[in-house]
Amino acid sequence: MAELEVLRDAAVLIDGDRIAWVGPRTEARGIHSAFRMPRSALQMVEVRGVLFPGFVDCHTHAVFGAPRLDDHQRRAVGESYQAIAATGGGILQSVRDVRDRTEDELVALTRLRLATLLAHGSTTIEVKSGYGLDLEAELKQLRVIRRLAAEGPATLVATFLGAHEVPPEYRDRCAEYVRLLCEEMIPAVARERLAGACDVFCEPGVFSIAESRAILTAARRHGLAVKLHADELEGAGGAELAAELGALSADHLAGISEAGIRALATSPTVAVLLPATMLFLGKRHHAPARRLIDAGAAVALATDFNPGSSPTVSLPFVMALGVSQLGLRHAEAVQAATVNAAAALGLAGARGQIAPGFAADLVLVEAADWREVAYWLGTNRVSAVWTGGLACPPPAAPLSLGFHVSQA
Ligand code: NIG
Ligand code: FE
Repeated sequence: MAELEVLRDAAVLIDGDRIAWVGPRTEARGIHSAFRMPRSALQMVEVRGVLFPGFVDCHTHAVFGAPRLDDHQRRAVGESYQAIAATGGGILQSVRDVRDRTEDELVALTRLRLATLLAHGSTTIEVKSGYGLDLEAELKQLRVIRRLAAEGPATLVATFLGAHEVPPEYRDRCAEYVRLLCEEMIPAVARERLAGACDVFCEPGVFSIAESRAILTAARRHGLAVKLHADELEGAGGAELAAELGALSADHLAGISEAGIRALATSPTVAVLLPATMLFLGKRHHAPARRLIDAGAAVALATDFNPGSSPTVSLPFVMALGVSQLGLRHAEAVQAATVNAAAALGLAGARGQIAPGFAADLVLVEAADWREVAYWLGTNRVSAVWTGGLACPPPAAPLSLGFHVSQA
């Protein structure tokens, strides 16, 4: 992960929506003819700065209504994430909110947020459901993602997270909710092809290892890939379960055990680390990124963009946290937000590299040194974005997060 090829004075040849060639600019003259492109069809764009592969945000909860400012304030005076969740705040507050909103309203809000993620360089964005927790509201969220995926210009990857929390109507009947997930919700999501993967919040007090195994086994039976919110707050064997099930990724991992590190190191499951979440929740510790990498695990970084534990849209900010909080080298932080993040979505061969055959998703960062991408903490240095070979229109200024909407 620490090896990053950096070309100076480089050129990239794009053919349609794919990269055809990349190399030194001195070798670029006439290169189009090797690809049988007529000179008249060539369009030249000169840029100054550092060109990165489009960033891949492999973990977001971008479909939500209002921000959760009360939770934020309660944590500031010492209440824990779990205590707030147990007394009416937390995920269930966003669930009430999302259930009350129309699909169109959620499309409008999410469109603004995706445009802001894109303006920070994320050209491929995973988006989870999980604020519906009943069939109708979960499908509503997934349809929001499908409609926005069709609009472009970012590539969206939908994940079903019906097991994000136990809904209030099943509070004391969790086993029945697990049955509903396995027998009705997962089959419906798979039938309508509304998601490519299924995720579970596997954490003591939410879904146990046994429940998570049952849900993800049902998901696999219906042809979905699996992912896991694992060992976020307390270590409980989530990473080991992810490796056992051949999950695409195990995410969070601040409480991962030694056995969990070994399990990920010897499996293709990607360890997705979310340092902005730990920072925002006021935690003083982080996932053991160095130990994971040194053991041989593939590590990715993501924003976890959501209203409760990580209201940030900036992968460059998360990369900077990767360097200063997780001990990643700058090159590792870049790999973690591109190649490895693509692998966490099952897209390793298609996205996250500037190489022939890869999607022509590119991000220009205003910088003299490539390491600046993970340095300017909290300012957006992204100056241009291309997806599928096409320039994305500059975002409306100021960027909107739709946070003016009233609280549910
Ligand atoms: O990844 N941990 C569970 N899910 C989210 C938080 C969602 C929320 O608080 O709304 C997470 O941190
Ligand atoms: Fe999450």
